[in-house]
Amino acid sequence: MSDIILEMKNIDKDFFGVKALSNVNIAVKRNEIHAICGENGAGKSTLMNILSGVYPYGSYSGTIIFEGKEVTFKNIKDSEKEGIVIIHQELALVPYLSIAENIFMGNEQGGKAIIDWNKTRSKAKGLLEMVGLSENPNTLISSIGVGKQQLVEIAKALSKDVKLLILDEPTAALNDEESNKLLGLLCGLQEKGITSILISHKINEITKVCNSTTIIRDGQTIETIDRAEITEDRIIKGMVGREIVDRYPKRDSNILETVFEIKGWNVFNPENEHEKVISDVSFHLKKGEVLGMAGLMGAGRTELAMSIFGKSYGQKISGEAFINGKKVKLNSVGAAISNGIAYVSEDRKNYGLILINSIRENITLPNLSKISERGVINQNLEIRESETYRDKLKIKTSGINQLVASLSGGNQQKVVLSKWIMSEPDILILDEPTRGIDVGAKYEIYQIINELASQGKSIILISSDMPELLGMSDRVYVINEGRIVEELNEGELSQENIMRAILRSSREAS
Ligand SMILES: Nc1ncnc2c1ncn2[C@@H]1O[C@H](COP(=O)(O)OP(=O)(O)OP(=O)(O)O)[C@@H](O)[C@H]1O
Ligand SMILES: [Mg+2]
Repeated sequence: MSDIILEMKNIDKDFFGVKALSNVNIAVKRNEIHAICGENGAGKSTLMNILSGVYPYGSYSGTIIFEGKEVTFKNIKDSEKEGIVIIHQELALVPYLSIAENIFMGNEQGGKAIIDWNKTRSKAKGLLEMVGLSENPNTLISSIGVGKQQLVEIAKALSKDVKLLILDEPTAALNDEESNKLLGLLCGLQEKGITSILISHKINEITKVCNSTTIIRDGQTIETIDRAEITEDRIIKGMVGREIVDRYPKRDSNILETVFEIKGWNVFNPENEHEKVISDVSFHLKKGEVLGMAGLMGAGRTELAMSIFGKSYGQKISGEAFINGKKVKLNSVGAAISNGIAYVSEDRKNYGLILINSIRENITLPNLSKISERGVINQNLEIRESETYRDKLKIKTSGINQLVASLSGGNQQKVVLSKWIMSEPDILILDEPTRGIDVGAKYEIYQIINELASQGKSIILISSDMPELLGMSDRVYVINEGRIVEELNEGELSQENIMRAILRSSREAS
């Protein structure tokens, strides 16, 4: 048996004349964890879609050799038959079906036309044990968090007799603890003889678990680096094409008076009026300030932000909001926007974007008044404005008329950011703004945050990436179980202080 399990040679792929991949070469050794790194839009997902038959043989050029023989997949089923299973960047589970139903969808257990539910459930149970997920197989997907959903995806892959597992940014939406669990699981699968390809923008994860790393830039392979030589700096340099010395650009903070204040804020679960999600939260935000909100996944930060943003989450919301000392009612998204608040959602697919529209339409949607004259959209202005943001945020696209659905994940995120920055809010709430975004683009987003702050705008930054939160914030609130449990000022900002506050408050609660 050769020690190379997969080779992709001279792969070329274009979309309607636009080159996504050109002459890409990659060789994956049997039983290794092989990383693929590259900026947003570099072509990582496209390459994996070719490998797994999503883009069928004939729609690309080049050769794929798997287990020593050339393969020409016409669809995903073909690649799965050979033991190649892909877990896509955007999870593909059906929210209103159970865990067990999702695991065996398309691979139903039982005889002809009859599903054997006992078998389905007991097999599902075994698979869930393998991935370390202690949930009842009958639980609905919609009622478990993303971290657990990711594990269900892996369980689903394992139900298919997998030899090569492809994970496209599996940890993008996970916190450190969940990510570590998932990476540990990958190492466990490696011991069982499974080879994996891992795409991730979290470079520290790559240096931690991967045996080798292939870097792709602008649709071309730059190099493959072995474990012994992998360093974060080398990966970044390969991806971006230049060195990035300081990951968090400096800002000279000029923090002025309080512009926004929340007092005694309470929110209940929209599906269960007895479950309090946010308890008696009070906080303030100053002009020119970047205010961080730290907490574990599920701490309530998104719920807090969305409930403030025109009650877009929750029920029985009570409490007071003040802007520049004046009491305001934020009863609808419209009211929040007209009070100068904008919220960039962590969940771009559901709240942030209209996928079947173009970049241009998405960016200008909440800003129609800015590009209209007497109620009519001025198309030239619309084009000019969208072009400005395309340049500013370096959105990688064939043009502003490209549909958002066909952009790479990270570039979709930049479109969401553009649309809200264009609305020039006084208070910008950014919820996990750099999730799934490459290091170079992160840097650009940090610079935009700094620029907004120095113009006197105020930013609330929700982030699970602790170095980012600490690198960018002037002040941090720690949130745990729906309450603010700590306020950390300059000089007190550290990972230890955040974790200590979370642990202390969890202990007090139990
Ligand atoms: N269906 C499509 N139609 C047109 N262009 C596409 C399509 N899918 C991808 N592209 C383009 O191909 C290029 C590569 O995209 P791809 O999704 O592979 O990037 P990626 O490396 O996975 O990025 P990310 O890190 O943001 O997920 C991008 O420029 C993207 O806009
Ligand atoms: Mg991708």
